[in-house]
Amino acid sequence: MKIIEVDSYEKMSALAADVIAAQVITKPHAVLGFATGSTPIGTYVALAKKCREDGLDFSDITTFNLDEYCALEISHPQSYYAFMWENLFSHINIKKENVHLPNGMAADIDKECENYEKMIEEAGGVDLQLLGIGHNGHIGFNEPGDSFISATHRVDLTQRTIEANCRFFENDLNKVPKQAITMGIGTIMKAKNILMLIRGEDKLEAMKAMLAKEVHPSCQASVLQYHPNVTVIYTAN
Ligand code: F6R
Repeated sequence: MKIIEVDSYEKMSALAADVIAAQVITKPHAVLGFATGSTPIGTYVALAKKCREDGLDFSDITTFNLDEYCALEISHPQSYYAFMWENLFSHINIKKENVHLPNGMAADIDKECENYEKMIEEAGGVDLQLLGIGHNGHIGFNEPGDSFISATHRVDLTQRTIEANCRFFENDLNKVPKQAITMGIGTIMKAKNILMLIRGEDKLEAMKAMLAKEVHPSCQASVLQYHPNVTVIYTAN
């Protein structure tokens, strides 16, 4: 893994946007994998600026997001669909039909997971996958466990995650989604290139576990050690 440390969030975001822009320029039909969460927001702002001011062209780009809540309407402000449109897609010239997130409202979630996996394959696979990391080393919604789950699948959110999310759902535990769909570890590992963004000293433990000698499902991100093309950008601030 290539690890780059920078001294500000602004620099991290600018650098990450440069990497993504280079992919868009060198392969206008590229498939990009995106993440939600607070860390990539600056990158998305920088990408929108490149599109607006420098003409970075997303018109032939296809995207697949890592994950989405189950049983939450996409119109809900906390859906990952809403997040992506608010923070990125509304600000770039991407075609709506080229944007993909798992459909957490699908009647048959298992079928949806299968379809999502198939759609990624049919699009030629992900060229560049953007990742964040959880404090517990999760990537996507792949939480610490006894194994690595390969394909896109349904996950039960941990009680800790449900409680942490409560503040986004009117502090009502009943309104917090209890399940999500996530790309699996195998899906993520199939990406040709991976760019992981890590912000904050509070993520150092997770980063250490990711880089530790032993690759173990108790830190799902540690599997990235087996990937030939991972770049990590870290900033303490
Ligand atoms: C988001 C995702 C998560 C986040 C991770 C870090 O789609 O899959 O794995 O990347 O939880 O989130 P932040 O950036 O909010 O610290």
